[in-house]
Amino acid sequence: MNKLTAAITAVGSYVPKFIMTNKMLEDIVETNDEWITSRTGIKERRILKPDEGEGTSYLAIKAAQDLIDKKKLDPKEIDLVIVATATPDSMVASTAAFVASEIGATNAFAYDLLAACSSFLFGMSNASGYVASGKYKKVLLIGADKMSSIIDYTDRTTCIIFGDGAGAVLFEPNFEGLGLQDEYLRSDGNGRAYLGMEGGGSIMPATIESVKARKHFIFQEGRTVFKFAVSNMADVAEKIMVRNNLTHENVSWLVPHQANKRIIDATAKRMGLDDSKVLMNIQRYGNTTSATLPLLLADFEGKFKKGDNLVFAAFGGGFTWGSIFLKWAYN
Ligand SMILES: CC(C)(COP(=O)(O)OP(=O)(O)OC[C@H]1O[C@@H](n2cnc3c(N)ncnc32)[C@H](O)[C@@H]1OP(=O)(O)O)[C@@H](O)C(=O)NCCC(=O)NCCS
Repeated sequence: MNKLTAAITAVGSYVPKFIMTNKMLEDIVETNDEWITSRTGIKERRILKPDEGEGTSYLAIKAAQDLIDKKKLDPKEIDLVIVATATPDSMVASTAAFVASEIGATNAFAYDLLAACSSFLFGMSNASGYVASGKYKKVLLIGADKMSSIIDYTDRTTCIIFGDGAGAVLFEPNFEGLGLQDEYLRSDGNGRAYLGMEGGGSIMPATIESVKARKHFIFQEGRTVFKFAVSNMADVAEKIMVRNNLTHENVSWLVPHQANKRIIDATAKRMGLDDSKVLMNIQRYGNTTSATLPLLLADFEGKFKKGDNLVFAAFGGGFTWGSIFLKWAYN
């Protein structure tokens, strides 16, 4: 029997119905469509309104249900549910545990994985590791974020970027050499000075003062984050290519975190990739944090062929970043 690997065998996704366009943001902060489009590539983003549902778990459950329906999967067969997120429903109680119960994954254990915009990428390492070790057979990895819950809609440097959404993938055993091949994952804690949320954690619990000072919203030093993201995402993607003998010809698709079109373009350029191989939907969803990678897989699933070489790359708060090489396992 061939070596056991862990492959993605199904995908699902969900985005909220409400579309917030750049034009709408012009009425909220001093900005304009031209500035947002030229600096980020974003045209619109989805926002979860209270009349549709509440919390990150709502998005995660919808994405998981989409996968379960498409795959005709019996949720009782799922061994583990991981929710990759930067915006859990609440602190302490696991969002993933609630999601698992709601989708009927009653035989699974579940936990959240928090690594900012790299949460899903790091989750791929976790999920595939459990499967490739032979420990579990069906691991559901969901990337979900309700970024609108931590966005300051008076801060034009952050509110234009982020949106809400969720995507899910199922990892299962593979004996054809497909699935996850290699990973290079990194972090640097000095980055927390440049991108994060000061309030709400153990250093700064919520007080009247912290709320008044708007400390429960995400902040970023955009220019610094941009510089780190451009060089680090390109570095790791290049490293993954070199050590797996990948070239611009045999890489089928770049699956990059959707933070900024200019960051994606720079990564693709360093990899020598033609635009036609670079997956992008940032114009429609903005940066959905943990959901960007699975939303790409769901949107472009129809284009993938069994054996295609996919290179994932992401960068996020912390800082956290990395790249993964995965062979697609189905047509
Ligand atoms: C945020 C970001 C789009 C800003 O683009 P930028 O080209 O770096 O722009 P700067 O921050 O240098 O600002 C340029 C000018 O535009 C202004 N500006 C900032 N946001 C604006 C907006 N929404 N609309 C119009 N003008 C804006 C700034 O105030 C600044 O004005 P000044 O020159 O008079 O001081 C960009 O830095 C970025 O994408 N950074 C990475 C963010 C990211 O990806 N975060 C998540 C990581 S996972």
